[in-house]
Amino acid sequence: MKKIKLFALGTLLVCLSINSFSQTPDVKVEREPEMRLEPVERGGGRPFMEVLNERQSIRQFSERELEPRILSALLWAANGINRDAEGKRTAPSTRDVREIDVYMLTPHGAYLYIPEGHGIKLIKPGDYRKEVLPKAEFAHQAPVVLVYVANSKKLESFEASSREFYSAVDCGFVSQNVYLYCASEHLATVVLGSVNKEALGKILGLVKDKVLLAQPVGYRD
Ligand SMILES: Cc1cc2nc3c(=O)[nH]c(=O)nc-3n(C[C@H](O)[C@H](O)[C@H](O)COP(=O)(O)O)c2cc1C
Repeated sequence: MKKIKLFALGTLLVCLSINSFSQTPDVKVEREPEMRLEPVERGGGRPFMEVLNERQSIRQFSERELEPRILSALLWAANGINRDAEGKRTAPSTRDVREIDVYMLTPHGAYLYIPEGHGIKLIKPGDYRKEVLPKAEFAHQAPVVLVYVANSKKLESFEASSREFYSAVDCGFVSQNVYLYCASEHLATVVLGSVNKEALGKILGLVKDKVLLAQPVGYRD
């Protein structure tokens, strides 16, 4: 599969959108990335204690697009595969069901991150940031808004009463991974509970999957 630079995504993805416009992600079983992200540098980085010391919510974003290297590492940090042989993730999940799907809203479209193959898939072209975050004006120019969604299919084996609890807990780990990655790269981020979930559900074509939280990410200046 061809690796492409993310700044060229806008144009390319409008073309790719024709096939994916009417998808319903939560009833679609097979997930194949349309575009691979850059390989992630899994070593190095800043000392962990410094990163923890700098973890914070920042509500001011540059509109500058994230470099492909940064976007790739951000999505991997969120919920990528860190043990390739077992497909296990950077974030823990109850019974290892891996039910938190990470979507991404950009000025060009809404995408699904697919950890298997470390790539993304266009769900719908267009800029939905304002519509999805009507109360968070400060986030409207963030180049990336991550959205965490509980995949209902993966929660089928759980009692209905515990699905909400476990998916909320598991989502928290993903969000914290993003906070820590952002602190390590001096990026701005804040997790947001105030999300227009109905609008987002329609945009993403969700039927049973539940939108949990959003998290804009961008450069600080
Ligand atoms: C579940 C959750 C929902 C949140 N929702 C919002 C929100 O809708 N809007 C907002 O500006 N901040 C939101 N925050 C961020 C908190 O306000 C922030 O974490 C808190 O003020 C502590 O600041 P700190 O993250 O810099 O430590 C949320 C945080 C959590 C954990």
